[in-house]
Amino acid sequence: MKPWGGRFTKETDARVERFTASLPFDKRLARDDIRGSKAHCRMLVSTGIISSTEGEAILKGLDKIEEEIETGSFPFLLSLEDIHMNIEARLIQLIGHIGGKLHTARSRNDQVALDLHLYVKRETEIVMGLIKDLQQVLIKRSEEGLDVIMPGYTHLQRAQPVLLAHHLLAYFWMLERDKSRFADCLKRADQMPLGAGALAGTGFPIDREVVAKELGFSSLYENSLDAVSDRDFVVEFISDAALLMIHLSRLSEEIILWSSKEFGFVTLDDAFTTGSSIMPQKKNPDVAELARAKTGRVYGALIGILTVLKGLPLAYNKDLQEDKEGLFDTVDTIKDILSLFADMLETMTINQDKMREAVYNDYACATDLADFLVRKDIPFREAHAIVGKIVLYALENNKLLHELHEDELIRFHPALTLKNVRALLNPYNSVNARRVRGGTSASAVKKQLRMARKLLEGN
Ligand code: ARG
Repeated sequence: MKPWGGRFTKETDARVERFTASLPFDKRLARDDIRGSKAHCRMLVSTGIISSTEGEAILKGLDKIEEEIETGSFPFLLSLEDIHMNIEARLIQLIGHIGGKLHTARSRNDQVALDLHLYVKRETEIVMGLIKDLQQVLIKRSEEGLDVIMPGYTHLQRAQPVLLAHHLLAYFWMLERDKSRFADCLKRADQMPLGAGALAGTGFPIDREVVAKELGFSSLYENSLDAVSDRDFVVEFISDAALLMIHLSRLSEEIILWSSKEFGFVTLDDAFTTGSSIMPQKKNPDVAELARAKTGRVYGALIGILTVLKGLPLAYNKDLQEDKEGLFDTVDTIKDILSLFADMLETMTINQDKMREAVYNDYACATDLADFLVRKDIPFREAHAIVGKIVLYALENNKLLHELHEDELIRFHPALTLKNVRALLNPYNSVNARRVRGGTSASAVKKQLRMARKLLEGN
């Protein structure tokens, strides 16, 4: 017998039962559902809507159900459609018809909205903590990378030398923005929908404030139609997750490139790589590759929820049941990746020599040479052209810039004596010349690190 079976004379088609059920995935809301029900029950008692004896029986029954779910003995029934009706039916089974009073002044519509708010709030805080853990690792590796030089890239072509610390810290700031976006999402998730009933509110003298307070909400929905049909906070969570995944997939791509023989900049720990079933020598960066690919699932979930919501008339529609799987999958995906990345980056070996070699075997200091000519009052455009010709000459003669002799250099400009240019062609000097705030010099990066550390301590 279904809780809503009264007005029906026929059994539900088995396929309809399966098609309309959300139990297989909304089981995960059990904890939040019970928490919400307990708060609702206590409020029903405090407002005199049910007696305290009834309230106590319901609370005891809910405790028992919680225990059954934890120990795995709860008898889930697909025919009862979702987690809400499973818990309610079990409550009535355990404590008798008094259990039927729990749903007074409540509908599954405001109930499921409440559960989802509780879930999103809880998970958002966990995700923010995991982002912070990853930031901590980036800071730690940056501290070690303060005197490690590497090529900075544009167009994936070697451009100018940078400190490894500077490169890693770029990801710190991306994650800092991600964290602040999740914090912002939390503000909108922090609104209490219960009391909206099915759509129009309730005639019972409930106390919404007291429920909100017990459940830790700082505000209430002011419109019952909005309360049961709003899933903006789900869109925001997934959209914040999509941006986070953009950043993590960019990092993934760099780790994949850097761990290749061609780059050789890093070596991933065995525990964070896998092998090949045919090629015995292989060690593959699967974690980073999968993270890169799983970005697609999160984008998919975002498009999914955006599409579900568009054009929905007020208030509750069964379409809204489709808000969950994409959200849950997104939560699982980003939590896994954040925690794996923290350890993968922590245990990764940095091959400083390879990075340095890549800088030295290149024309990384060409801009510094041009800047030198600019200081001799040559307009930048002309200086650029002169150094361009020097690079071309060096390439044709199979030489690097620091391998050119003085007589070769001064042919291009008389100021280019070895005494003048030798120091310029040292990549460390190139790095340390970029002392501008936010630049890659050791002093600027140390300042950046200090700010980053302070930010992390503050939140
Ligand atoms: N399982 C439903 C969902 O996830 C719960 C609300 C159902 N309400 C209804 N009137 N059918 O959205």
